Amino acid sequence: MSGMVTLSEFIMERQADFPYATGDLSRLLGDISLAGKIINHQVNKAGLHDILGTVGTTNIQGESQMKLDVYADQALLNAVRWGGQVCGAASEENEKYLPFDSEMCRKAKYVILFDPLDGSSNIDVNVSIGTIFSIFRRKSAVGDLVNINDFLQRGVDQVASGYVIYGSSTMLVYTTGHGVNGFTLESSIGEFCLSHPNMCIPEDGKIYSINEGILNGCGKGVQEYVKWCKESDKESSRPYTARYIGSLVADFHRNLIRGGIYMYPGITKSPSGKLRLQYENNPLAFIVEQAGGKASDGIRRIMEIQPKELHERTPLFIGSKNMVERVEALIRQYEQVEA
Ligand code: AHG
Ligand code: MN
Ligand code: MN
Repeated sequence: MSGMVTLSEFIMERQADFPYATGDLSRLLGDISLAGKIINHQVNKAGLHDILGTVGTTNIQGESQMKLDVYADQALLNAVRWGGQVCGAASEENEKYLPFDSEMCRKAKYVILFDPLDGSSNIDVNVSIGTIFSIFRRKSAVGDLVNINDFLQRGVDQVASGYVIYGSSTMLVYTTGHGVNGFTLESSIGEFCLSHPNMCIPEDGKIYSINEGILNGCGKGVQEYVKWCKESDKESSRPYTARYIGSLVADFHRNLIRGGIYMYPGITKSPSGKLRLQYENNPLAFIVEQAGGKASDGIRRIMEIQPKELHERTPLFIGSKNMVERVEALIRQYEQVEA
């Protein structure tokens, strides 16, 4: 195991790069990794202990909550509340943001937003799922209670974001705006260890990921792009390969490593698509841009969109730069929306 760098060692080492860093963000990343390990533990034994299935309630988006959704939400909230580095949290599973009232939390500099368990529909069938998080510096004064404006910030103002994927191995991938690094959980020592330093997404890829069941309800630009992906062409090695797990984190992670595009467009019955700007799109957009890729709602850069409310949805086109640019061009051409 010599030469193995743990996540905490890596974070400490990087902290030295920022002369005025106080260590708060480092500690917060540590708290998140602890929650990741706790969730991972539950996910791994999910079939055994009555934690599969729904709890009989729905979340703010009207989706039925799985037991693991609720468990993961609580695990993260506890980890960051007791860690004392954030003054409030907003989660896909809770209607309102949660201010943290303790003396220590009121003085904290950061807020966190997260999707505690992404890919809920895959929980009961043993397919990869994940956790996604996004961190901002608070806008309200230190010492005050947080308010809604602390959570309605544009993605460009994120100070860190990342995800944990519970897959064939468990990984934590994060960025603080200085590249992207990936850590694999070494279960024998219970530590995330650096396994994917300086992750970069290929400029072009051969994988496209979309739920083709919704294609008829998509705009013509997206339909034309998918058609293009399927056409045969020797030079660009088309037809491309379709891969769709149905867990955004897992689809995104594969495309980040291999090169590809993930798309969740607006559809007739849901013009803003399905995915949530603050819990899913912004954090992954920060990662993909730091890795050299792009994230767009078809017209605008995801990270420049000003959120108007919590739980806002936007279409998402994310992945290899050239692939995202091609679908954007077709959307402009066929859907005649002004850029
Ligand atoms: P969540 O489980 O957090 O609600 O997210 C589910 C999302 C995302 O992970 C996935 O890519 C997408 O929903 C799949 O949607 P479809 O079933 O409509 O393809
Ligand atoms: Mn999700
Ligand atoms: Mn979720």
